[in-house]
Amino acid sequence: MADPTFVHLTDLHFGEPDDPHLHSDTEATMDQILSNIAKIEPRPDFAIASGDLTNAGDPQSYRKLTRALDGIGMPVVYAIGNHDTRAGFREGMLGEAPGSDMPYDHDQVLAGIHVITLDSTVPGAIGGAIEPAQFDWLKTRLADHADLPKLLVIHHPPMLGETQDPDFWRGIRFEDSLRLAEILKGRDDIKGILCGHIHHDRFSVWHGIPVIVGLGQHAATDILVTDRLRMVQGAGFGIGRLRPSGLTMALVPLPSDRAELNSYPLSMLRAHVEQVEAAAHAAPEHAD
Ligand SMILES: [Fe+2]
Repeated sequence: MADPTFVHLTDLHFGEPDDPHLHSDTEATMDQILSNIAKIEPRPDFAIASGDLTNAGDPQSYRKLTRALDGIGMPVVYAIGNHDTRAGFREGMLGEAPGSDMPYDHDQVLAGIHVITLDSTVPGAIGGAIEPAQFDWLKTRLADHADLPKLLVIHHPPMLGETQDPDFWRGIRFEDSLRLAEILKGRDDIKGILCGHIHHDRFSVWHGIPVIVGLGQHAATDILVTDRLRMVQGAGFGIGRLRPSGLTMALVPLPSDRAELNSYPLSMLRAHVEQVEAAAHAAPEHAD
């Protein structure tokens, strides 16, 4: 059997053109991406869309995205990100009755790969988290399909360091990242973790596991500017191939002039995270 291959999309940020926070024409970008995907031979077995599917989380944007991806010609694994809403996704994409705000955790077997998707979103927050019940769910799923290689799909990447990062809005809450590491490290069946959120290509080996962050299809973080979050034009996608020896990711960037789209002070982002954390700890249902 041929090695399984897949497309990695992330941070699609579908939305309405009059959304003042969108800053780029994500529908036009997706048209370009899809025409590139159509050229891939042999056809990939599936696609992964690792969150921030929409910019505002409204059901109509999910319907628009469903129509746009209708012709992609392969199954798509969806995760949700901090710009998504669970309710909007469930209504607009899954066609469920309005109202459900349950985390969207799911798994499936595609082309001989066990793909496990975790919902790392915290409603209203930029950064991610994994709740205790989700860790329990993950441990159960990891015991399934013991003969198959596994890929994890999580919008927020784990925080990679051994100590808390002041910009922890960029990933999964530090203590949850440590717990995730405890569960995953030493397992040679985990072939990679596919992520988005930080809007630039970044490949890491974390406790022996490749953590693949894709640039995505919305806007690029200018990583050479570190005193603020500077967003510039830029988009691309990844093509993954899982050989018996391990995972390969090859990148397909779209041409870009890297013109500035927006710029955010880091202090604003840190203050937002602190506000959300404080509110969570003040709420009775989150009290220890
Ligand atoms: Fe995003």
